[in-house]
Amino acid sequence: MTDGGMAPVSDPLPFDGPAPLGPTGRPMPVLPEPMPLTEHGNARVIAMCNQKGGVGKTTTTINLGASLAEFGRKVLLVDFDPQGSLSVGLGLNPHEMDFTVYNLLMERDVTLEDVIVPSGVPGMDLLPSNIDLSAAEVQLVHEVAREQTLQRVLQPALAEYDVILIDCQPSLGLLTVNALTASDGVIVPLECEYFALRGVALLKTTIDKVRERLNPKLEIDGVLGTMFDGRTLHSREVMERLVQAWGDKVFHTVIRRTVKFSDSTVAGEPITTYASSSAGADSYRQLAKEVLARCLDG
Ligand SMILES: Nc1ncnc2c1ncn2[C@@H]1O[C@H](COP(=O)(O)OP(=O)(O)OP(=O)(O)O)[C@@H](O)[C@H]1O
Ligand SMILES: [Mg+2]
Repeated sequence: MTDGGMAPVSDPLPFDGPAPLGPTGRPMPVLPEPMPLTEHGNARVIAMCNQKGGVGKTTTTINLGASLAEFGRKVLLVDFDPQGSLSVGLGLNPHEMDFTVYNLLMERDVTLEDVIVPSGVPGMDLLPSNIDLSAAEVQLVHEVAREQTLQRVLQPALAEYDVILIDCQPSLGLLTVNALTASDGVIVPLECEYFALRGVALLKTTIDKVRERLNPKLEIDGVLGTMFDGRTLHSREVMERLVQAWGDKVFHTVIRRTVKFSDSTVAGEPITTYASSSAGADSYRQLAKEVLARCLDG
């Protein structure tokens, strides 16, 4: 088949034909091997954002972060969801945290060093949260520069890390606006199912408003298809619609559906260490290469 758009992914390829089509229906580029770094700092801050619940925000934050750390980047993860799933997913007990992001936001004498904990993955640290953070949403309303609070408290971390990933809660409230205001880029994970695109227009409007009013540098770094099942027409159709709507913003990498992700959450570690040679781990390493090539290296 030479018409490009229609060939199923599993078609045998002609020997010197066009580049193989990836799961998004576009030719799959060869992603460069990440360059080793000799110095760290000047972090890019990226928010993982979608107000729809259960689309893979937390899973992507943990595993993209762990993969970037494997490639030698210094990574800070910020749990910015009162559910605290990111912290739990890295093995922390929500009842045994001395300080959380809540203290960092609301108490002037609490510093980053007080709150940062190691994640268990070499090169990756964590700012943990628990249910306390839900109070911040209410209390921040009365603060001066309430939308810039997270940006202000993260400022000293920029010189220490290469990447800071913020795991947002499933809402477009003041916490998420804080995350977008603190960020250089946004990654939007979208589950590959029919209703995935519902609400995406509202998310885009929110991102545009934050860019216009609070944070002119904010970019959409990419849209990530998650829980993809290449055997179903359904998943492939959603992918096709994503590419129609978002064009090149859609990552060539997609994350397939596998139970290994919930298993690794129970184990309290990233899939990249829990099941290091699994397809899920490889997908996140590939996503890390794509993120590095697109918006971190060069
Ligand atoms: N690719 C995948 N395949 C199968 N299950 C997945 C995949 N990615 C995530 N999951 C599972 O789906 C559930 C939701 O994922 P996750 O917590 O990452 O979503 P979320 O967007 O952060 O949710 P919330 O909006 O509640 O914060 C979890 O149980 C997770 O283990
Ligand atoms: Mg989550």
